[in-house]
Amino acid sequence: MIKEPLTDAEVDALVEAATVARRNAKAPYSGFQVGAALLAVDGTTFGGCNVESASYGLTVCGERTAVFKAVSEGRRSFRAVAVVTGADEPTSPCGACRQVLWDQCGDIEVVMSTLNGKRERTTLGVLLPRAFELGGEDE
Ligand code: THU
Repeated sequence: MIKEPLTDAEVDALVEAATVARRNAKAPYSGFQVGAALLAVDGTTFGGCNVESASYGLTVCGERTAVFKAVSEGRRSFRAVAVVTGADEPTSPCGACRQVLWDQCGDIEVVMSTLNGKRERTTLGVLLPRAFELGGEDE
């Protein structure tokens, strides 16, 4: 279950933060620039963008950049993430990012937006049902 749903004004602000973060995207190989913004419960927002590697698999997505920035700055509780791309339709976070978001944020709101303002709102629990969680110890 998500915590308090975002107000419309909070959604606007988070999408704007992700749009700004997207300007720093470094995507020379795919040409697909992604911006993300993660809202912590204390009201702080952490932006992130994708950063691509010449060894393609080492690329880091925008969402994970935002999560790692926030966690490494001491945040442990979150409300929502926004993702902005230049695609025609809102872009949904990749599977790896869904897992990492779940690991660090649990069930938060997810706002996906195009640069033209076409938006969708959902939750991480909907995007990643039955997420992997470490259970008890082996043996
Ligand atoms: N990408 C993201 O930043 N987030 C996602 O959820 C999916 C994909 C990036 C990775 C790569 O730099 C580019 O988009 C094309 O896959």
